Amino acid sequence: MPRPARVVLIGFMGSGKSIVGRLLAARMGWQFADTDAVVVEREGASIARIFEAKGEPGFREAEARALRELAPRRNIVVATGGGAPAQPGNAWFFTTSDEAEVAVFHLRVSLASVRERTHGDRGRPLLARGEAEVKKLYEGRLPLYERLGEGIETDGRSPESIAEDITRRLDSPTRRRFAGDSA
Ligand code: S3P
Repeated sequence: MPRPARVVLIGFMGSGKSIVGRLLAARMGWQFADTDAVVVEREGASIARIFEAKGEPGFREAEARALRELAPRRNIVVATGGGAPAQPGNAWFFTTSDEAEVAVFHLRVSLASVRERTHGDRGRPLLARGEAEVKKLYEGRLPLYERLGEGIETDGRSPESIAEDITRRLDSPTRRRFAGDSA
């Protein structure tokens, strides 16, 4: 199985996509990008500010633009915002096409760890919607994350060991094909 053109990390807020992605890219000698960081740079405003000024739809448009901007790049690890795979218009980014094989990993995180890791976080507007809403979002997205990506446990593990695990899986000769692959 050839190495994919891009490795994409998905998962709920607080699953560690950015820190693991950065470490993974360094291990592989690849580039790293974080869709939230691309959005912030292009919009010249924080995620919280974009939600305030343009609402969630405005943020989702900017996020979709970030995916289109990153798509032509190869040998890149992309950490995506937790909601990116949940937007139907973004599905293409997470699936293998004629142009690019894509490897998607779902960083699994328990809701308890999400709460622990994001406690007091003001940079993620969706977390301000309250416990019940966050739980609903989490439970609603989980099946999608599982369908799209190969699951990697993160609870109680260091980012280094998660990045190492992903590298090992990528290099495994029996690596299974990923979401969206018809073969
Ligand atoms: C969101 C997750 C955030 C960010 C935005 C919305 C979501 O990214 O894109 O606040 O819908 O789950 P992280 O998953 O990197 O926190």
